[in-house]
Amino acid sequence: MTKNSVKIKFANGENIPLELHKVRVVQKLNLVPIERRLEALKEGGFNTFRLSTKDVFLDMLTDSGTNAMSDNQMAAMMQADDAYAGSQSFMRLQKAVEDVLGKKYLLPVHQGRAAENIISNAYVKKGSVVPMNYHFTTAMAHITQYGGKIAELLYDEAYVINSNHPFKGNINIEKLEETILENGVENIPFIRMEASTNLIGGQPFSVQNLRDVRKIADKYKIRLVLDASLLGENAYLVIQREPEFASSTMGEVIQTMTGLADLVYFSARKLSSSRGGGICTDKLEIYRELEALVPLFEGFLTYGGISVREIEAMAVGLYETLDENIICQSPNFINYLVEELTKNGVPMVRPAGVLGAHADAMQICSHIPQTQYPAGSLVAAFFLISGIRGMERGSISNQRDEDGNETYSDMELMRLAVPRRVFTLSQIKYVIDRLTWLYNNRELIGGLRFVYEPPVLRFFMGGLEPIGDWPEKLMAKFRQDFGDSL
Ligand code: F0G
Repeated sequence: MTKNSVKIKFANGENIPLELHKVRVVQKLNLVPIERRLEALKEGGFNTFRLSTKDVFLDMLTDSGTNAMSDNQMAAMMQADDAYAGSQSFMRLQKAVEDVLGKKYLLPVHQGRAAENIISNAYVKKGSVVPMNYHFTTAMAHITQYGGKIAELLYDEAYVINSNHPFKGNINIEKLEETILENGVENIPFIRMEASTNLIGGQPFSVQNLRDVRKIADKYKIRLVLDASLLGENAYLVIQREPEFASSTMGEVIQTMTGLADLVYFSARKLSSSRGGGICTDKLEIYRELEALVPLFEGFLTYGGISVREIEAMAVGLYETLDENIICQSPNFINYLVEELTKNGVPMVRPAGVLGAHADAMQICSHIPQTQYPAGSLVAAFFLISGIRGMERGSISNQRDEDGNETYSDMELMRLAVPRRVFTLSQIKYVIDRLTWLYNNRELIGGLRFVYEPPVLRFFMGGLEPIGDWPEKLMAKFRQDFGDSL
């Protein structure tokens, strides 16, 4: 494999990320006036998941299923082989998984959380404890649904917002061993490592850390599960930040990482810029343990609930994960966004991670107590003044404990996702402009309270209301400063 990365310098010394793609299909966006945005927030219970895209200007909710597809992915979708069993599209996907992830056996599933359901169904029972670097919402929901608990074992530096630690997603190796001994090897069904740890700001772990986890897994004969949904970006940051891999290719880093895991699962909505998901392994016994659950929950073993067109897009998308010039685009845009906002004084998670830029609501809204959801409040306020839809990644995204008590999040973040190759640099500049303005007017943001709280994954469809009339006051200040601007 030859290394294929490009560095581009500007003569004027400016340091900006340059798009290495051209736009050939476009979608018109609407920027509706702030008065309409306030109505939309009220209709959607101040929860950005419940907004209609007709009211959204830049959709930075997530990169899940929203990365731009390539011309080659779209072309592949046209030659899909529709068959319930034995589809050639699936054969192509199997080959891509083997070529890119280095795993022979593939179980297709309709998206990442379906893989989590199957793995938890097979291995988690009452009394199980799953050690991990950090939870993801859906992973935790499935583990607890089957009676298990999670143990989050990051190092303290992972929680430092403004840091220069290159690998905040590393698992604490000493604590991992302690957790295994405390709970008993028989109660640990697997260790879960999440690439580019989502909820702490898309922060990677190093290959060395994964090697250390492997040693522990071998010592105690425990399965090592890798959540590879954001593996491409983690591998890109390994090349940037782990000296041993500075001249490695994406493929070499990816296969080094997957080679250390017994079982790899992923959301293809992220990993391969498509839809779908998968579980893969090179161990036949693991494949056999999970195999029967795919037809039960997902669909036959050669489609797993995914449309064959998406299976074709997934296969091509997996190969494109090997291209550093494709994978670098989103992290480089995020880095620009984070560094410019930092220059303007806005507290951001640093170093910049992947999948999105993360603003620290705990500092920005230090006047709002955690009981009134500072991150949810910031996300609602930011949509109001900009039409940009971010996502709450704080206490609203946490689930209550077994006794029904709130569990406040370690971090209160507003995530502004930057899906691959979707936004232009002037749009990113608009984000910087509006978030800086909001930061300078942050005392006008107020808290929220639940009016409707679903029992599971409450952040998706929950409804909230503002405490007081702060949205109206914020809107008035916007009109005062921006006049009749949208
Ligand atoms: N694991 C990680 C690390 C994820 O980020 C996600 C999804 C999943 C698993 C579940 O995959 O959505 O295909 O079922 N993350 C999305 C997000 C939802 O917005 O960050 P899924």
